[in-house]
Amino acid sequence: MTKLNKAAYLNHNNSSTQPPGPRGLSLLSSLVEYTFTPIEFLLKSAREYGDVVSLSIGPIRTYLFNHPDLIDEVLNKQNQNCIKDISYRALKGVFGDGLLLSDGDFWKRHRRMIQPAFTAERIAGYASTIVADTSQMLAKWRSGEIYDIHQEMSQLTIKLITQTMFGVDVTETALEILEALDTIMLHYIHQTKTWFLLPAWLPTPENRQAHRATKRLNEIVYGIIEQRRKSPKDDLLSRMLQVKDEDGSQLSDRQLRDEVITLMLAGYETTTNALTWTLMLLAQNPEAEAKLVAEVRSVLEERLPTINDLPKLCYTEMVLKESMRLYPPAWIVGRELTRDCTIGDYYLARGTTIYLSQWVVHRDPRFFANPEQFLPERWEDNLEQRLPRCAYFPFGAGPRVCIGKAFSMMEATLILAMVAQKFRLTLIPDQSIELLPSITLRPKHGVKMMFKEISF
Ligand code: HEM
Repeated sequence: MTKLNKAAYLNHNNSSTQPPGPRGLSLLSSLVEYTFTPIEFLLKSAREYGDVVSLSIGPIRTYLFNHPDLIDEVLNKQNQNCIKDISYRALKGVFGDGLLLSDGDFWKRHRRMIQPAFTAERIAGYASTIVADTSQMLAKWRSGEIYDIHQEMSQLTIKLITQTMFGVDVTETALEILEALDTIMLHYIHQTKTWFLLPAWLPTPENRQAHRATKRLNEIVYGIIEQRRKSPKDDLLSRMLQVKDEDGSQLSDRQLRDEVITLMLAGYETTTNALTWTLMLLAQNPEAEAKLVAEVRSVLEERLPTINDLPKLCYTEMVLKESMRLYPPAWIVGRELTRDCTIGDYYLARGTTIYLSQWVVHRDPRFFANPEQFLPERWEDNLEQRLPRCAYFPFGAGPRVCIGKAFSMMEATLILAMVAQKFRLTLIPDQSIELLPSITLRPKHGVKMMFKEISF
């Protein structure tokens, strides 16, 4: 990797000027483009205008930062001057003050409280549950059948997150939970596209449906909390039920509910998407798939994996990293400045919104040669260490980095290895695999695949 020359990337060095970006009518058409085809729009803007793109409309200053140094500045160095932006805050109705959306001291206290569920030791303890549930799923798959892999992965990961974090088996209610979360997410997407037409409080069919889904989800979650309250176990929820604040008070039911729903959604949706895109990419890249199968068979032969196999499943991990480069399950991160500050060459006012997009930066040819190609081998020789900080940030960075990073890497590696060990997946031809970017990047109509069992 050639050493990077920062000056070559920062296109602007006059701090008094407004960064480039669409203006006037072109800005208006850009907003429409951003609303309806956001990922294409952001990539095009970065190519056209460079490392800092102004997307400001009216008094709200909005910028897209496309350089790792600037991203590092926002997520690491100036984190204390930022809160989550308005598009995150639009989700407060559902996720309340859970870890993903809260800020300041409240967030810090809750992060400290939840972090112990993600120590290396705890994570290792979750491996046997992951292997057992994945085995059950594989035992149900029938060779020669067609499945929607997104659905299959959703059902598996929702079960895993609730079992590992909250000690409950949601096999019975998994579909209901997924349906409710889906309705809420689709409603969020609908709202972001029609905010200028339809206020959220109008009793439209969509608003009513989302309201019903949230109500049902609340019932299920409060049920889980009640269950744990009656019979505590050694899990995160039981521990959260015991936690006392500095003033001796315990978390309220509402606070517990917010954290449970947040962990449920953040924990299943992203990992599901990571696995779905990975299996799609492998079907499209038979050479990579063959290498993966060879590694899995040589490491595991016919036995089930354990946590100790992970260091040997190097190619499996590289496949996942490369998949999350091309299809980052979280494709954009937004922040709002809480005070005036200088970032890069720009003096930015309090209230400014900044967007950082994994989809854009992970496709930057300055950091990734042949960026559109699926090449797991590029991660050999510790590419991640050699890249500039934040050139690759599927899990975010800085103090707000994903709390489930190590957990989901372990989970996805074990699941992928177990699927590759037993099944060859091919894409059903002529289906349209469309991206649906919301807070995550998921396939709009699922991904249909034919499963063929392979003998050893
Ligand atoms: C492939 C899987 C995953 C990806 C790509 C991913 C991605 C991310 C990203 C990018 C952020 C930072 C958002 C921001 O800075 O605004 C984040 C935060 C978070 N993630 Fe994940 N995530 C994954 C899996 C998980 C899992 C399995 C869990 C739970 C077990 C989880 C729970 C959270 C939580 C609670 C936060 C908020 C953390 C905080 O602000 O303190 N994530 N995730």
